[in-house]
Parts: sequence; structure tokens; C-alpha cells
Amino acid sequence: MSSSTGMAAAVVALAVLSLMGLVGRSQGLLKPFEFRHHDNEEMRLVLEDIAGECSDVSRVATLTEPSVLGTPLYYIEFSKHPGRHQILNPEFKYVANIHGNEVLGRELLLKLAHYLCEQYRAGNPEVVFLVRNTRIHLMPSVNPDGWQLATDTGGQHELIGRYNNNSVDLNRNFPDLNSIAYSNEEFSKEDNNHLLKEVNSLTQPLQPETRSLIRNILQIPYVLSATLHGGDLVANYPYDLSRSGKETGEYASAPDDETFRHLAKAYSQHHADMADPNMKPCNDENFAKNGGITNGAKWYALVGGMQDFNYLASNDFEITLELSCQKYPPASRLEPEWERNRNALMNYMWQSHIGIKGIVYDANTKQGVPNAVVHVTNMTEGIPREIKHDILSAHDGDYYRLLTPGTYKVTVQAKGFQPHTKLVNVVQRGYGTAKRIDFPLHGHNFQERPLVHANQMPFNGWINRPQPIVVQ
Ligand SMILES: *[C@@H]1O[C@H](CO)[C@@H](O)[C@H](O)[C@H]1NC(C)=O
Ligand SMILES: *[C@@H]1O[C@H](CO)[C@@H](O)[C@H](O)[C@H]1NC(C)=O
Ligand SMILES: [Zn+2]
Repeated sequence: MSSSTGMAAAVVALAVLSLMGLVGRSQGLLKPFEFRHHDNEEMRLVLEDIAGECSDVSRVATLTEPSVLGTPLYYIEFSKHPGRHQILNPEFKYVANIHGNEVLGRELLLKLAHYLCEQYRAGNPEVVFLVRNTRIHLMPSVNPDGWQLATDTGGQHELIGRYNNNSVDLNRNFPDLNSIAYSNEEFSKEDNNHLLKEVNSLTQPLQPETRSLIRNILQIPYVLSATLHGGDLVANYPYDLSRSGKETGEYASAPDDETFRHLAKAYSQHHADMADPNMKPCNDENFAKNGGITNGAKWYALVGGMQDFNYLASNDFEITLELSCQKYPPASRLEPEWERNRNALMNYMWQSHIGIKGIVYDANTKQGVPNAVVHVTNMTEGIPREIKHDILSAHDGDYYRLLTPGTYKVTVQAKGFQPHTKLVNVVQRGYGTAKRIDFPLHGHNFQERPLVHANQMPFNGWINRPQPIVVQ
């Protein structure tokens, strides 16, 4: 079944179910959404109201640690079975307000949560399909203390409220994995994934907000994410650090450069005018002339950002979205901004279904194999081009490999098994789930062979991982 016929069938089935009152049956009255700046307490109430009204597909929880001032870092999750990873369902996240004075993303995510709940209950086939086939995490504010300071001081200063309450820029506080990746490149050592275990010192102490985010990144097998900022209008993709140390103007491509460019465009081109060359740029650079996207380091280099950390510490592909010229727009701008961003926010979530996914399993026992290494070579142009960034299968053996259309050689390898290679054709598909390619692995009693890359276990030594605290 092709994805588009699958989707069409699903849509028809859902339409019938919703006529029968089986989808989106109303549980109570969802309060209408108010477009205004919600303070930290109001944000919690909005999320809890939504999770209460859509309790079969959502829940509110907090990250493991609160902010410096003790404010919990709330998130809301939407999925078929909230609170659990579902085999073959990709995990997605949006994170906003890491810079406390960049507040649009925070309100957009509250509205998005409300929209998903409302549309799910109304039986909107797109939303129902997405929620049932994706686990979506929305974190409206990971720097609530900065938000409070920015708000208390009028919100119009470039920097006041950007930092957390220890005056640390959280988006510079992540361990620098780029330098490790670049030095591995120089020594022709191919490690370019799950690099946290190669960190042996930190240049600055991790803030509680950063620690919470890192634990979340390591705990959930995310496939795709974006972090929402303000101050410009552009979709920024890895890497954020230049290889030479140059501060601006040097393109730093990641092994998945083509996929990242696709992902950034999946946002910019579905935004009302991020990719419109007739728009007046916010600042000096006219990103719209280039499709509304930019490589991070080409724009300006930074160390310790969350975007590159996600890519180099986990399976997650993350981009950074600058959503408005104004960091703290007036409340009257929030509704029009939602309209300008809605399609882009939806379209980007769908990208967690591009490429291929499947289950790596032991051909004898039929058990899923976790931490299997998935290595990809691009064969589209005949000359093999290796993509030097492997991803690992998750706990139950399921893996997700985001890819743009093309022909790929995919090799899966795990300790104690023979490698298994398949040639895969990825085509552009409409909204639907990724093409499924499973990998049975043989040869448990073969001599143990070394891994493609000897880094199969996600690092968990220097950071303990208590379970998230469930609020509701
Ligand atoms: C920390 O929070 C307190 C209490 O809100 C505030 O007075 C102070 O200015 C904040 N400090 C920083 C560095 O953000
Ligand atoms: C593979 O190569 C084709 C042809 O150059 C290209 O269009 C595609 O984006 C590449 N895929 C990836 C994931 O780099
Ligand atoms: Zn920012």
C-alpha cells in the first residue's frame, strides 16, 4: 500500500468513525484559546486544561528538574498512548522560549497544543492521523525565569531576560560536541554520533534547565525537533559552529546537509512569508532570497548550542527557527503570527515521517535488537556517497532514518550479528508514514565482530536519569 492510498484510506475510515461519534467524542468543554502573553502559572493552567479535555491522547509532565528559581519546566505530549514510546511511531519535539525574552514561540506552542486537541476532538483527519502515528512533545518554555524578568522589565530590551537566573545563555550551555566531531574528521576517525561519551570536561557548569533538556534528549528516542526563537525570520540548520573557528561567513555542513536543507525549507516555504523575497528583511541579511533558510555557522558561529547537540548526542535532527523580527511582540500580534506559522508548524511535524523506518530484529528469536547501527550510503548518482552519520535503533529495535528522495544502500549492524544490507528507494510521498524496511539479523553464534563504529551504547555515565515527574 503506498503512503498516499494509505492516507486516503485512513482519511475515509476516520470520516466514517467520526460520523459514528467514535473519534473526537467530546469529553467536556475545551476553553477557547486566548491570544495573549500567558504567565508561568497561566501557561500551566492552559496545558492542564487541554490535557484534561484530550486525556486519551495527551498528558502534561515536567522535565526532571525545575529552573533556577524553582519553576517547573512543563511540556505537553500528544500521542496514541501518552507517556510511552510506541514502536514504529517517531518521536518529535518543539522547544520554545530557551531565550526568555523571545516569547512568540511560547504562545505559538500553547496555541498549537490547543489546536491539536480541538482538531483531534473534531475529527480533523490530518490531525487525527498525525497524533496517532507520531509522539509529539511541546515544551512552550524552557526558560520561565528569563521570561518573567523580560516581562517585568517591559520586554523590549535586546538581552534582558535572554539568560536564565544565573545569567547563563542556555543555548550556549550544552557540551560542545562539534569540536569532537571536527577533530574526529581530521584524524579520519568516523565517529559522528552519540558523542557525549567522548566529552571529558565541560567549559562551564551545566545549568538545571540544560541538564533537564539533556536528560530528555537522551531518554526519548527523538527523530526530529525544532527550537523556536525570535529576533529574525529564518530557518537555521546545522552546523552552528564553523570548522575553522571563523565567526561568520563559513558554511559548516553536517553529513546530513541535504536532509537539513530540506527540513529547513519544510518550515520556511510553508510559512506565510519566511521564503518570500519581497519581504523586507528584519536585519542586514536577506535570508528570503535564499529560500528563508541558512546554515548556522554561515550566518554566525556559536558554541554549545542545543541544535547541534541534539544531532551529535542522539538520533535527533534539530533546526532552529527564528520566527519574528520582534523578540517580544505585543499581544495583538499573536493571532496573526499563529496564522502565519500554522501551516509551517504542521508541515514540519510531518517531516518526522520522511525517509525510512522499520524494526531491526534477531531472525531467530524475532526479538527487537536495540542500539543496532544504521549506516547509509547515497547511491542516487551511481557514485557511492557515504553519509557519515549513523543512527541507532531504539529500545525495541525500531529505527527511523530521515532521508530525502533518492537511492540508498542501508547497512545495519549489531554486536554478535552479521551485517545486513538493503538497497532502498526513497520517493517523495504525501502526508503519511515513512516507508517500512525491516532488518532481520542472522548469525548469533558467529564470532563477535567489531561494530562499524564502536559507539553503540548511548552514553549515560555522567548524567543520571530519574524518570520525568508526571503532573497529570
Ligand atoms: C533572578 O530572579 C530574581 C527574582 O525574580 C530577580 O530579582 C533577579 O534580577 C534575577 N537575576 C537574574 C540574573 O536574572
Ligand atoms: C542523495 O543524492 C541525491 C542526488 O544527488 C540527492 O538529491 C539527495 O538529497 C541525497 N540524499 C541525502 C540524504 O543526502
Ligand atoms: Zn534566541
